[in-house]
Amino acid sequence: MASRVALVTGGTGGIGTAICKRLITGGYKVATNYRNEEKARAWQAQMQSDGYEVTLAKGDVSNYPEAEAMVRDVERQLGPVDILINNAGITRDGTFHKMTPEQWQDVINTNLNSVFNVTRPVIEGMRARKWGRIIQISSINGQKGQYGQANYAAAKAGMHGFTISLAQENAKFGITVNTVSPGYIGTDMVMAVPEDVRAKIVAQIPTGRLGEPDEIAYAVSFFLPDEAGWITGANLSANGGQYMGW
Ligand code: CAA
Repeated sequence: MASRVALVTGGTGGIGTAICKRLITGGYKVATNYRNEEKARAWQAQMQSDGYEVTLAKGDVSNYPEAEAMVRDVERQLGPVDILINNAGITRDGTFHKMTPEQWQDVINTNLNSVFNVTRPVIEGMRARKWGRIIQISSINGQKGQYGQANYAAAKAGMHGFTISLAQENAKFGITVNTVSPGYIGTDMVMAVPEDVRAKIVAQIPTGRLGEPDEIAYAVSFFLPDEAGWITGANLSANGGQYMGW
């Protein structure tokens, strides 16, 4: 069988880079989208010098026409998308009583509407070929809420609502749809949280440390093989024990 094609949105970020590396090591052909060409090419060159070939396609996932064009570009370069990892995400933290409409809309558009924008162009092909893997990278804060993250928690909880509906609609087509909910991982996004606030958060993690991006990439890889075909609609927490609910 030819190696499967995986599209990882936001692949140039902290968790995204680890997912790309793990999938390439696993023998998948991997693509990611970008908005800033210069930054993306520099990242691609670094990946290449580390021994990882990643295909790039231009497109802002918060914009439907751009996301659709990006998917078609990936298909032209690598072939049909078998695996989609909806990983792209941003934070615009702030307490709700001070939150601007832009802070709300930016996060909903990039973290949640993107899931529609990228999944819609790949789903018909997966259904026709009767195989697919779709994974949402949500967050512990979509499960438990977080002070200062009404926008982010709403988007991340919404991603799992999407997962469990799409899982039902596509189970008969060999497509599994699952969520991975990372806790606090040592990426630029988490390091942007003020140090005193971050220290209080780390104190609540039973493992006593932030997670590693590759610990999330490992959780993602669990859903990909054929043996995982019975696992759909699941939400896999990978958070060092910080939250053990749904
Ligand atoms: N519970 C209760 N009170 C809290 C609190 C909490 N968790 N966090 C802050 N407060 C209180 C403060 O003690 C302070 O109280 P006083 O005014 O009585 O002293 C008050 O809230 C501060 O409120 P402000 O509205 O003035 O907030 P601020 O402008 O200082 O900033 C914040 C607040 C932006 C929320 C800041 O606390 C922050 O950045 N928090 C971290 C949010 C966070 O966890 N983001 C995660 C980013 S990483 C990520 O999202 C990845 C992932 O998936 C995990």
